Amino acid sequence: MGLFSLPKNSTVRPGKVYPAPEGATNVKRFEIYRYDPESGENPRLDAFEVDLDRCGPMVLDAIIKIKNEIDSTLAFRRSCREGVCGSCAMNIDGHNTLACTTAIADCREVVRIYPLPHQPVIKDLVPDQTHFFAQYASIRPWIQTQTPPPADRERLQSKEERNRLTGYYECILCACCSTACPSYWWNSDRYLGPAVLLQAYRWIVDSRDENTGERLDELEDPFKLYRCHTIMNCTHVCPKHLNPAKAIAEIKKLLIERQR
Ligand code: SF4
Ligand code: SF4
Ligand code: FES
Repeated sequence: MGLFSLPKNSTVRPGKVYPAPEGATNVKRFEIYRYDPESGENPRLDAFEVDLDRCGPMVLDAIIKIKNEIDSTLAFRRSCREGVCGSCAMNIDGHNTLACTTAIADCREVVRIYPLPHQPVIKDLVPDQTHFFAQYASIRPWIQTQTPPPADRERLQSKEERNRLTGYYECILCACCSTACPSYWWNSDRYLGPAVLLQAYRWIVDSRDENTGERLDELEDPFKLYRCHTIMNCTHVCPKHLNPAKAIAEIKKLLIERQR
């Protein structure tokens, strides 16, 4: 167990070490957070030495290989394997990011993998996102209208109106940004956090939506919106290169403008 060098105050204890297969010459070590609340045991870090000559290039490939070939009890989420679904968000080498778009070659010598921070853990790398998605549902993420749609066509947008959604519609709700936000860590019971606020802005600027005023009314709240202190962690971590901090600033600007 001396192979581990965890911080002295870490509540995570060193766990099992799974050595590389005999004869492997291109070996990478992955230290992965393991926790099963039902076991009653403290979390631990297990070390898996993976033969990279028999592994795909991405961190998710290594995690899948570990589950398939070394320890089938390892729990994690994944689906699309190409940065589209947001399921495989986790903390890799200290950064919240997507395992499927993170190349092993870009990681540290020993790759440390934890679940997204400051979320309850269901098991291993699977955070409980019930609250996050309840907050998402609270902004009513769909088009709301009062007028009937045109009889002969859909509700159309000009190119310019459509372009206002660029930079926002691409959000895959991976929660990397919200779980990197210190304000969200301490106030997530009431602060909506960068991901949900970016989504809220996406519907506010949609020209087809007719409830802009109500949407802004609901956000004008000292906790839901104004806990953002422009620390910018959200924008730094977004694996889709979006800018949630800008979306939040735009919402604040709209609230000021309508008071004039
Ligand atoms: S800019 Fe706002 S939302 Fe983004 S990390 Fe900072 S406080 Fe959180
Ligand atoms: S803004 Fe980026 S980091 Fe945040 S949920 Fe959307 S895609 Fe993920
Ligand atoms: S598996 Fe879908 S984003 Fe990684």
